Amino acid sequence: MSLLSIRDLCVAMGPQEILRGVSLDVPDGSIVAVLGSNGVGKTTLMRTISGIYRGRQGSISFAGQPILNLPAHRIVALGLCQAPEGRQIFSNMSVRENLVLGAGDAGPGELDRIYTLFPVLAERLRQNAGSLSGGEQQMLCIARALMRRPRLLLLDEPSLGLAPKLVALIFDLVRRIRAEGVSILIVEQNARAALRIADHAAVMEDGRIVLAGKAAELRDDPRIAEAYLGGHVHG
Ligand SMILES: Nc1ncnc2c1ncn2[C@@H]1O[C@H](COP(=O)(O)OP(=O)(O)OP(=O)(O)O)[C@@H](O)[C@H]1O
Ligand SMILES: [Mg+2]
Repeated sequence: MSLLSIRDLCVAMGPQEILRGVSLDVPDGSIVAVLGSNGVGKTTLMRTISGIYRGRQGSISFAGQPILNLPAHRIVALGLCQAPEGRQIFSNMSVRENLVLGAGDAGPGELDRIYTLFPVLAERLRQNAGSLSGGEQQMLCIARALMRRPRLLLLDEPSLGLAPKLVALIFDLVRRIRAEGVSILIVEQNARAALRIADHAAVMEDGRIVLAGKAAELRDDPRIAEAYLGGHVHG
């Protein structure tokens, strides 16, 4: 069954069409990766799913309910949470305050689970979030989104700007989060790492999905190798 199902989604900013008929499914329990170069509409897609941008046409259903153009807080309440592009943590608040704010009405009940998944954060609860390293800030961003116990987690470029070792750590965390029963839709420019953990993947170009399939098959697709894996199929 599809937990998230997007059909013919169109989004425009004024006269400019950003998404031109996007259809995509996230099967329950899976990791789905969206790949694509700068400016093709990946973040716009994530923001529209989350209710931050309005869709002009098409439909999105989540757990069987139509959610396109619902207010963002109602979508979160249904169990769909986003770790946004650029992290957007509250720099002048502590790590713990960021987590508790992320929980909203759900309260701090998830803190113990978060500390187990992110021991690095557990060691820095009183530290200002702005003083965390880039990798720690990314972990805080993901942890904050998990405070609501979502069924679906949206991750927008979680590995951006991180050193290879931290990229590996973040991807390992994504795998563990899925193992706890959270489905994941991840946008990444690190195609190689994303295709390694994903079950399914889609490639966007200019507001459309131009290629989609099982991640294992896309890994071996010469079009992907050429455009996103630096010409090497395996590595
Ligand atoms: N709020 C907005 N107002 C006007 N144009 C926007 C807005 N949000 C996005 N766009 C435009 O939509 C297009 C797609 O942007 P988007 O951020 O979705 O791309 P992206 O694939 O996430 O790129 P990147 O990989 O650089 O993050 C861009 O041309 C961008 O300028
Ligand atoms: Mg983006």
